[in-house]
Amino acid sequence: MNPLEITRITQRKYLIKKMIPFFSFFLPILFLSFLISTHPVKGQSLINETCKTIARRDPNIGYNFCTTSLQASPTSQCASLQGLGMISIKLLHHNITDTHGYVKHLMKNRKLDPYSKLYLKDCYELFSDAISSVKRAVKYYNSKRYDDANIQISGVMDAATTCEDGFSEREGLVSPLTKRNRNTFQLSAIVLSIMHEINKGSNV
Ligand SMILES: *[C@@H]1O[C@H](CO)[C@@H](O)[C@H](O)[C@H]1NC(C)=O
Ligand SMILES: *[C@@H]1O[C@H](CO)[C@@H](O)[C@H](O)[C@H]1NC(C)=O
Repeated sequence: MNPLEITRITQRKYLIKKMIPFFSFFLPILFLSFLISTHPVKGQSLINETCKTIARRDPNIGYNFCTTSLQASPTSQCASLQGLGMISIKLLHHNITDTHGYVKHLMKNRKLDPYSKLYLKDCYELFSDAISSVKRAVKYYNSKRYDDANIQISGVMDAATTCEDGFSEREGLVSPLTKRNRNTFQLSAIVLSIMHEINKGSNV
C-alpha cells in the first residue's frame, strides 16, 4: 500500500467516526419529530379542532362558547378527546350545582310572586335530579357506556329546557335563570357531541 492509499483509508475512518455522533444525535430527533407529527392532536389545537367539528354538526353549540368553556379547565391543555369529554361533564356538573344553589338563594326572597315561587321550586327539583343524573353519567362515561351516559346528559338538557319553559308559560314573568339555563343546555350539547365523536372512533 502506498502512503497515499493509507492516508485515504484513515481519512475514511475518520469520516465514519465523525458521522456516528452525527447520526446518534440527529436520528432520535428525526424519530421524535416523526412521532410528534403522527401523534393525535393534543392541547389547544385539539380543543379548537373538537369545537370546530361539533359546532359545525350541532347548531346549538357556539364555537367560541365551546373553546372558552374547555380552555377554562387547567388540565384541558394536555387532554385527549376522552379527557375533554370528562372535562365537559365536570364543567356541567359544576354549573348545575351552582345553579341549584342559586335557585335556593332566589327562593328565599320574601317578595317573590307566587308564580315565580312555584316555577323556582320546579327548577330546584329539576336541578336536584340533574345533579344525580350527571353523577350517573360520570360513572357510565368512565366505563365507556356512552349510550347510558347519553340518556343521563339528555335528561340534564331537558331539565334546563323545562325549567326555562315554566317561566314563559305565564305572561309578564321573566325567568331569572335564562343565561344559566342556556349554559346548561349548551354544555350538555357539548358533552353529547364529544361522546358522539368518541363513539365514532375519530381522533378529530
Ligand atoms: C385556537 O383557536 C384560536 C381562535 O379561536 C386561535 O387564536 C389559536 O391560535 C388556535 N390555537 C391553535 C393551537 O390552533
Ligand atoms: C358555567 O358555564 C359557563 C360556560 O362555560 C361559564 O362561563 C360559567 O362560569 C360556569 N359557571 C360555573 C359556576 O361553573
